[in-house]
Amino acid sequence: MFKVTPWEVSGKIDYQKLIEEFGVSKITEELLQKLPDHFMLRRGIFFAHRDLDKIIKARENGEKFYLYTGRGPSGKIHIGHLLPWAFNLFLQKEWGTELYFQLTDDEKFLFNEGLSLEDTKKLAYDNALDIIALGFDPKKTTIFLDTENMNVLYPVAIKVAKRVTFSTAKAVFGFDSSTNIGSIFYTSIQSAPAFLLSELEKRSIMCLIPCAIDQDPHFRITRDVAEPLGYPKPASIYCKLLPSLAGSDKMSSSSPESSVFTTDDEETVRRKVMNAFTGGAPTVKEQRLQGGNPDICSVYAYHFFCFEPDDDRVKGIYDRCRNGSLMCGECKTMLVDEINSFLLKHRKKREWAKEHIDDFVKRI
Ligand code: TYM
Repeated sequence: MFKVTPWEVSGKIDYQKLIEEFGVSKITEELLQKLPDHFMLRRGIFFAHRDLDKIIKARENGEKFYLYTGRGPSGKIHIGHLLPWAFNLFLQKEWGTELYFQLTDDEKFLFNEGLSLEDTKKLAYDNALDIIALGFDPKKTTIFLDTENMNVLYPVAIKVAKRVTFSTAKAVFGFDSSTNIGSIFYTSIQSAPAFLLSELEKRSIMCLIPCAIDQDPHFRITRDVAEPLGYPKPASIYCKLLPSLAGSDKMSSSSPESSVFTTDDEETVRRKVMNAFTGGAPTVKEQRLQGGNPDICSVYAYHFFCFEPDDDRVKGIYDRCRNGSLMCGECKTMLVDEINSFLLKHRKKREWAKEHIDDFVKRI
C-alpha cells in the first residue's frame, strides 16, 4: 500500500502503478532522444509527463513557452526539494527559458495549524535563498510570493475556481466537510501561474511544469479547466521522490533525522548518513560472502538520485555492493563527503543570495 498526494506521501511507491492511476505518460525512448541529455533523464528519475511532446514541438517551431515550478514554504529545504529545481535550472540553461517560481505562503498557512502567515512569509524568503543559490539566471527568473502578487493571480484563480466543484476537490484531494474553505480554494491559486503569461500577454503561451509526481493532482485540475477558459493546457515533466534515509517514504521535513537539510552542518550530515537504513547484510562477513542489496538501500538511492552523476561510477557502486567488495561504512563515508562538499559550496552561495534576493524575488 502506498499513497501519493500533494500533502502526503507514504509507503513504497510503485511508479508504474502511479502512471496508470494518475493517467500520466511514461517518458519514452523516442522522447528522450529529443531532450537534452541529463543523468536524471537517462536513469528514469524524471520518468513521466503530460504533453511534453507539445513543448518539444513548440521549441522546434520557435514558439514561446516558459517553465513554472514552486515551493510550499513550511520549513527548511531538504535535498529532495533540490532535485526538481536542479532540473529546472538545467532546462533554463539548455533552452534559455524563462522560469516562474511560485512560493505558496498562503498554502502553507492554510494547511498547517501551527504556522502563521508571518511564519510562512518569512520561510518563503528563507527558502528563496536555496533556490537562488542553485544558480538561476536573474534576468530569466521570477520568484514570487502568492500573498504579494494577488492582484495578478486572483483574477486568473477565480476563473479557475468557478469551474472546479467541491465534489471534484473532494475526489482529487480527499477533502471533507471539516476542511477549511481556503484549502478547498487553494488549488486554483496553484493553477494560476500555469496561465499567467497567456493572461498577461493576451495570447496563447504554453508552460512546462517540472516537479515531482506528488503535485500532479493539482495540474490535472488545471488541465481540465484550461481549454474552456481559453488557455493552453500546461505540460508537465515529473520526477520520482527521493526516499528518506530511513529507507521508506519520501524525504520529508517532518522526519528531520532521516532528511538532509541544506543548513545541516558537517557533523549532522555525518550522523544522519551513518544512521541511515542500508541494504547491507547483518555482519561484514556475511556481506563479503553474499553481497548487499542496493535496490532497497537509502544510501545507494542518494548516490543514484543526486550525488553520483557519472553513470559508470554509479554502476561501480551498485556492482561492488552486490558482489560484496563494497562495505556499507565505505559507501556511507563516500556519500557524507559528497553531500558535505556540495553543502559547503551551497551554503556560500546561500550567503551570496542574501545580497541579491531583490534580483530574483519580484512582483509580477
Ligand atoms: P513542496 O514545497 O512540497 O515541494 C517543492 C518541490 O519539491 C518536490 N519534492 C520532492 N522532489 C523529490 N523528492 C522529494 N522527496 C520531494 N519532496 C518534495 C515537489 O514535488 C515540489 O516540486 N504546493 C507545492 C508548491 C507549488 C508547486 C507549484 C510545486 C506551487 N506551485 C508548481 C511544483 C510546481 C508544494 O508545497 O511543494
